[in-house]
Amino acid sequence: MSSNQSIPMLMLNDIHKFYDRLEVLKGISLDVTKGELVTFVGPSGCGKTTLLRVIGGFTPFDSGEVILDGQRIDHLPPNLRDTRICFQNYALFPHMTVAENISYGLKIKKWKKNKIQERVEELLRLVKLEGLGGRMIDKLSGGQQQRVAVARALSLEPKVLLLDEPLSNLDANLRLTMRGEIRKLQERLKITTIFVTHDQFEAMSISDRIVVMKEGVIQQIGSPIEIYERPENEFIASFVGYVNFLDGVVERVDLRPDMATVSTPVGEINFVPERNFNVGDKVKLVIRPETINMSRSEPANGDNILQGEVEIGMYVGSLAKYTVQVKGERMIIDQTNPRETGIFKENEKIYLTIPKNIHVLRKN
Ligand SMILES: Nc1ncnc2c1ncn2[C@@H]1O[C@H](COP(=O)(O)OP(=O)(O)OP(=O)(O)O)[C@@H](O)[C@H]1O
Ligand SMILES: [Mg+2]
Repeated sequence: MSSNQSIPMLMLNDIHKFYDRLEVLKGISLDVTKGELVTFVGPSGCGKTTLLRVIGGFTPFDSGEVILDGQRIDHLPPNLRDTRICFQNYALFPHMTVAENISYGLKIKKWKKNKIQERVEELLRLVKLEGLGGRMIDKLSGGQQQRVAVARALSLEPKVLLLDEPLSNLDANLRLTMRGEIRKLQERLKITTIFVTHDQFEAMSISDRIVVMKEGVIQQIGSPIEIYERPENEFIASFVGYVNFLDGVVERVDLRPDMATVSTPVGEINFVPERNFNVGDKVKLVIRPETINMSRSEPANGDNILQGEVEIGMYVGSLAKYTVQVKGERMIIDQTNPRETGIFKENEKIYLTIPKNIHVLRKN
């Protein structure tokens, strides 16, 4: 890794943005390293698009700084910033063809005609619209328009690429291949990219880091694994994937071996603490459905073993999903290899095994 890779390509310092009296960005600070792909996720209305527009220069803001490659760019209009944006609503030029839309920026930069043509062909292949260069925009489906918008944003290699839900209108298979293509291209060209999506699995699979936002505030910044396995609060835990929460109180803390015991409505649960806990702390255990194991016979190992009764089972091929009643608490469990473990029936009495490496939140 060369040394300049650790210098942020993009720095946001304490960005505040109001619409009338509504503060929609409440002090956003973020550094994005050169070549990184960072994804913004968060509920509708949390400020993702507003933040992208601030970076691209399309929306004025109230205070803070936007620094691109070491230079403050807040005062520059969009066309003088080395950023490109693919808007959520595409914002294509309706009176132009597909190829004219894609090549628009290249013409402004005075690229040679044959180089433009080459580039357009390459981009059309990338977004799987070969042969449609001459088509007018209004003769395309929504998903095709979206791909033209992605191609247009990629046409010049900007220092920062801003993609606002670029795949939201595509069907599942195309979405998967386009996602892979965008990631490959982004890595090959080392374009620093900010990607907005509502699809948490898309965010997990494409990102170097994920930024979780809520009501104009960054909740957590981390790698997909950090966000999934060590969410900093309940909101983040339940935003990425399903999670079982168990409230409890720390009963014992042992140092050798490093272990804590929590009393919960389903009984005592032991966990290896990731940080210091004290007896009496109120906590919330974060237990992902796929980490729980189900069995008919009592497991012999020393993990946390609970008894429960199957409520509902759903076999979905690669996965069997169950809800299980444990002392009046409903737990959701995914068995990732149902062929191996067998299918459990409704009302069947079963054992649950919960591993000791549980992520635990302290309750305020
Ligand atoms: N031009 C505008 N005038 C007034 N309020 C606006 C404007 N644009 C956005 N807002 C408000 O700012 C907040 C953030 O909107 P934004 O579009 O950034 O959300 P988002 O996270 O992109 O949501 P979504 O996931 O639905 O696209 C919302 O409350 C929205 O209503
Ligand atoms: Mg948006």
